[in-house]
Amino acid sequence: MGITVLGSYNVDLMSRSPHLPAPGETVLGGPFQLGPGGKGCNQATAAARLGCAVRFMTKVGNDSFRELAEKTFRSENFPIEYLLISDKGQTGCALIVVDQEGENSIVVAPGANMDYLQEDMDAIEASVAGSSLLLLQLEISMEANKKAIEVAQAYDIPVLLNPAPYRDFDKSLLKHVTYLTPNETEAESMTGINLRIESDFLEAAKVLYEMGASHVMITLGKKGCYLYSGGQAGELLPGFQVKAVDTAGAGDCFNGAFAAAILAGKSVSEAALQGNAAAALSVTKVGTAPSMPNSTELQAFLEVIRGFQ
Ligand code: RIB
Ligand code: NA
Repeated sequence: MGITVLGSYNVDLMSRSPHLPAPGETVLGGPFQLGPGGKGCNQATAAARLGCAVRFMTKVGNDSFRELAEKTFRSENFPIEYLLISDKGQTGCALIVVDQEGENSIVVAPGANMDYLQEDMDAIEASVAGSSLLLLQLEISMEANKKAIEVAQAYDIPVLLNPAPYRDFDKSLLKHVTYLTPNETEAESMTGINLRIESDFLEAAKVLYEMGASHVMITLGKKGCYLYSGGQAGELLPGFQVKAVDTAGAGDCFNGAFAAAILAGKSVSEAALQGNAAAALSVTKVGTAPSMPNSTELQAFLEVIRGFQ
C-alpha cells in the first residue's frame, strides 16, 4: 500500500529577480519558467520519486493548464482517476519571485483547489481508505481536508499535516494528526510563541503536541528541523549545507521525503534526516516539483555526506 496525498495542484509561474520587489516597484528580472507546483503536487512528486506508491488527489479547472496537470500525472505515474476536474474553477496558479540568494515570495490563486463539492467526498473516501499514510496541507478546501481526516480516523490511517500556507483552522483536528510539520512562521502563528532560540522550539513543539499531534517537526530551512515526540526534550536534526539556487518547494520536499521514509519503515528521526537531505538537494535546482530528487540522487548525496563524517 502507498500514500494518499490530497492537496493542491498549481501551475507555478516563476521569474528570477535581482531582489524581491517593494510595493509599487517594477523590477526587470528573468528568466521566466512555467511548471507544475502546488504544495500537494510537490509533496506527492517528492514521495513518488523516492520510490513510494502515491495516489495524488487534486482538483484543477477545465482550462488550458489542465493539460499540464495531466502531463504531470503521466510523468510521475500518479493514477489519473484521482485527478478531479472542476467545471467552474480555474486551475490553481502561483506567482513566484526568486531573488539572487534563492529566497522567494509567492502569491497563490487557488481556483479549483477550493472547489470541492459534496460529490467529491466519496472520491476522497475511496482514495484515502486504501492507503498507509495520508498527507495533507492547507492549500485546498478545508471541507475536503476534514473529510480525509475523518476517513483516516475511521480506518486507523496515520495522518501527516503540513499546515501550509497557514490559515486558521479547527485545531481539534490535531487530535487525529500523527505528524505535524509547521515551519517557523506557521509554528509561531499556531502557538503565539516567538521562535528565537532552541528553548522556544521546545516550548512551541510542546504546545502543538498538547493540541494532539503525536510527532511535531518544526522545519527550520537550512538549519534542519526540530523534532519533538513527547517527554522532556526534543531533538535538533541539523540540515545540510548546499549552494541554494531556489528554495521554493524545499519544505514540500521535506514532507514528501519524510513520508516516503516512514512508509519504508524508518524511524521518525531517520525519516526527518531523509527529509532534510532531500530538501537540501531540491534547493540546488530551479523550480518546485521539477526539482525533487530521485532515490539515486538522494543515495549518492547521503554517501558523500557519510564520507565526510
Ligand atoms: O511550497 C511551494 C509551493 O507553494 C509552490 O509550488 C506554489 O505553487 C505554492 O503552492
Ligand atoms: Na528548488
